[in-house]
This record gives sequence, structure tokens and C-alpha cells, in this order.
Amino acid sequence: MGIERLVDTKSRANDSAEEVFEQSLRPTDFENYIGQERLKNNLKLAISAVKKRNDGGTLDHVLLYGPPGLGKTTMAGVIAHELGANLKITSGPAIERAGDLASILTNLADGDVLFIDEIHRLRRAVEELLYSAMEDYKLDIVVGKGPAAHSMRIDLSKFTVIGATTRTGALAGPLRDRFGIIHRLEYYKNNEIKQIITRTAGILKTEITDDAAEMLSTRSRLTPRIANRLVKRVRDFADVNGDGIIDEKTTKSALELLEIDELGLDPADRNMLRLMEENYPGRPIGLSTIAALTGDEASTIEDYYEPYLLQIGFIERTPRGRMVTARGKKHLGLNS
Ligand SMILES: Nc1ncnc2c1ncn2[C@@H]1O[C@H](COP(=O)(O)OP(=O)(O)OP(=O)(O)O)[C@@H](O)[C@H]1O
Ligand SMILES: [Mg+2]
Repeated sequence: MGIERLVDTKSRANDSAEEVFEQSLRPTDFENYIGQERLKNNLKLAISAVKKRNDGGTLDHVLLYGPPGLGKTTMAGVIAHELGANLKITSGPAIERAGDLASILTNLADGDVLFIDEIHRLRRAVEELLYSAMEDYKLDIVVGKGPAAHSMRIDLSKFTVIGATTRTGALAGPLRDRFGIIHRLEYYKNNEIKQIITRTAGILKTEITDDAAEMLSTRSRLTPRIANRLVKRVRDFADVNGDGIIDEKTTKSALELLEIDELGLDPADRNMLRLMEENYPGRPIGLSTIAALTGDEASTIEDYYEPYLLQIGFIERTPRGRMVTARGKKHLGLNS
């Protein structure tokens, strides 16, 4: 539904060009993973402890949660790299049956890292099997059918699960409890986004001025995925309309053309806020009503529009629904 948004934090992993682009920019070690200092420090400590003990023990299971595009998948790769471990990647929706999980788990070797993206979307039966596997590295499976059926316990290698989710609320308590390290990824600071922008320009072999990096950093919704996308777009613009250098002037024209404002809001954000305020001035609005107004899915609003608008204080969540704040109204030039 709707138009393709440049500043949509949604991964376009099914778009192979975007996937290759993201992959090429993914830092592989702590050194190049910018920001998230608290998370990095915790993980560094835990990883050195595992290495120092060197007794065949593994890193505790790690759960990473937070809005899309902040670097969860990237961090899973970094952890595996820093551990010197093999990384196997799967996702909640990809594991259809308990048997699929059993085959993944029995193929893991000691020390392997299993990354389960969108872990909140695991099916019930799969999730239950995962509990005991994560807890004591045993798999309880039923073999045979009918009266001949009996359960069997299989020993598994000692592996580490890294789960990623945009919604911890959606994760069942018992599953959550199996993770020793649970961490929320935070929105980045402007100066961190600026470093990511400069790094990305470097990898793309494009010159970028300090002013331009500064300007882009405030329009990237504090999100690396968007920062990288903007650099790529502005670079195209600079190649076509200028001398290929990303400077302030080019950046400004490109952003104007893309209708991205100083805070990184695009027409879709502004449209949503305006519709909310025009139809329900000063009143809280339910998520499904907002979705009906904009023509998006409620989950799209919740996962992709709302987190950043909440972060910058343009909307607030009340028990009775969402409201545009005075600050949001001011930005849009709406009367309160
Ligand atoms: N700390 C970082 N430093 C540099 N680049 C980063 C960092 N975090 C993320 N990126 C870049 O941002 C892009 C998106 O990151 P990533 O795919 O890890 O996000 P995600 O949290 O897994 O998103 P989703 O919830 O959609 O799966 C990657 O291409 C990566 O290059
Ligand atoms: Mg991801």
C-alpha cells in the first residue's frame, strides 16, 4: 500500500540491491560499530570472560530489541566475529515446523551462534522446543506415530542464540527468560550518525564536506539505515547535478527534492500528523483509526512511523490513544 518512502526504516531485504548495499556497509567488529556504547561494553566484557575461561562454555543467549534499522542484525554479526564463531542465520517466520528447528539445532557445532531474526514471530510449537534447547542444550522430540510414538531426548552442542525483535512486548515471558543478556538498542546521537555518514561516504569513495555530513545527520531520524540511504541518494544527486562531491548546497537541494525536512520527516509523516490533528483535534486517537486515516496497516504505523515521532516528542501515547503534542503541532505550523 502507499508510496515508497525513502525514510521508511523498514528493511528492504527482499530488494536485492538494497540488501547488497546494506551488507557492504555492515561493520564486522566492535571497533567499527559506531555508538551503542553501553551495549558494546556489556558484550565486550561477556565475550572476554568466555574467552578467558576457555572451558568450552559459551556466551549467554543474547536478545536485542529496538526499532528497525538501528543495527540488531549488524550486531549479531559483530558478536559472532568477536567470538570467532560460526554464524547461522534464520528468522521466526522461516522456521515453519518444530522439525525445522530440530534440524537447525542438531546441525550446530559447539560455540556456534544462531541468529533468529524476528524472534517474536516464532510459532508456538517451535518456540516451546526452543525453550529446553536454550536452557540445557537438549532437544525433546517425539518420534513415531500413534501408539508407537515415544519421546526422545537428544543432546545438542553448546550454542548461543541471538534473538532480534522490534517488539519485546510480543515475546512470551518464558522465552524472554531464557536470555541472559537482554538489551535495547537506542536511537543514535547526532554525532554518531554523523560518523556513520562519513564512514559510509568513505566506503562509497565519495567526498563529503563536514557541513553536509552535519546536515544529513539531523535528517536521518537518528537511524543508521536511513543515514546510509540518504548518503546514497545525495551521492546520486551530486553525481548528476554537481561535481560528485557531497557538499552542503547539493545536500540541501537533494533533501528539498525528496521533501525531507530538518528533522527527517517526510510527506507521509507530516500527512499522518496533520490528519490526526484535523480529524481529532486535541483528542487521543486509537491506532486503528490512525491507520484508517492514512490507509496504512496499523502495524506499519506502530513499527515504522511512530517510534521516531515518539522519540522526538511529536506524538505521545496515552492509555486512550495517540496524540500530537504541542511540539509536533508547532513543527507543522498547526494552531493548538
Ligand atoms: N552502529 C553502526 N555503525 C555503522 N553502521 C551501522 C550501525 N548499525 C547499523 N548500521 C548500518 O545500518 C544498516 C541497518 O542495520 P541493521 O540491518 O543491522 O538493522 P536492524 O536493527 O537489524 O533492522 P531490522 O529491525 O529492520 O532488522 C546496516 O546496513 C548497517 O550498515
Ligand atoms: Mg535486522
